[in-house]
Amino acid sequence: MAKVKHFLKLNDFNIDELSYLFERAAVIKENYKSYKKTWTLEDRTLVMIFEKASTRTRLSFEAGMNQMGGSSVYLNTRDSQLGRGEPVEDAAQVISRMSDVVMIRTYEQDIIERFAKNSRVPVINGLTNEFHPCQILADIFTYIEKRGTIKSKKVAWIGDSNNVCMTWLQAAELLDFELHVSTPKGYEVQLKDIDSKNNFFQHEDPMDAAKNADIVTTDVWTSMGFESENNERLKDFANWQVDKKMMDIAKKDALFMHCLPAHRGEEVTGEVIDGPQSIVWEEAENRLHVQKALLEYLLLGKQ
Ligand code: CP
Ligand code: NVA
Repeated sequence: MAKVKHFLKLNDFNIDELSYLFERAAVIKENYKSYKKTWTLEDRTLVMIFEKASTRTRLSFEAGMNQMGGSSVYLNTRDSQLGRGEPVEDAAQVISRMSDVVMIRTYEQDIIERFAKNSRVPVINGLTNEFHPCQILADIFTYIEKRGTIKSKKVAWIGDSNNVCMTWLQAAELLDFELHVSTPKGYEVQLKDIDSKNNFFQHEDPMDAAKNADIVTTDVWTSMGFESENNERLKDFANWQVDKKMMDIAKKDALFMHCLPAHRGEEVTGEVIDGPQSIVWEEAENRLHVQKALLEYLLLGKQ
């Protein structure tokens, strides 16, 4: 099988590719806003496989594909053979013979890696337990729109060292900014999971992480797949809430980001997420624009 380009982790792309995607996303967004067509994916089919719930990821990929002249097929574990034990390798062989690109939201990264190995077409990670690369594409694109380059900036991650946090870490290495992480004890980033420690800083006190930050960001305390730990996590994470006091210790013009869905009163207060420093709605919208650029790049290369 010819070598196919996949997007399973943010660092599957190099800095040139990421820069191209951000530039192209800006053009695609501008076209969309001015009712100009970007029909570069006419007759192409995206298959989306969801083993976990989603609002933004499904909507942005499905709408994005339609807006580029292509179409999409939604599969979930509940009513496809995927939930009845068909090997992921077999599913990949079949699905990739009937489509042009596949997006998967699943549990272990290993599942998507195995799918990709057996796929004839590009595979995109729509979230795994380990990573959420499409989210971070949108987050960085949003920051660039608001403030310009993210290089050398200070990003504070408050809360769980989950899939979104670990993808921010890859972004910090690729794009050369600092990621300051504060998690409760027992939930720290595992150093064995990171390639380089140059851009990574760990803090016991979340206020130290947030101090002078350009971005303060967080996510739910309990990610999908970890629901049985919810009660324990509610107690463990109680001091890792982004509130006004935390935003006040960050830079004056700091931005608040959250991949959504959010739990007001848990990881963030309503005052912050609904306040003037929050850019969460732009961040959600930009999933659409960057993923259109991503689909186009994987299928057609640079335009
Ligand atoms: N942020 C994000 O991926 O949202 P969904 O779970 O709604 O897709
Ligand atoms: N960390 C969250 C992100 C949801 C978009 C989860 O995995 O559930």
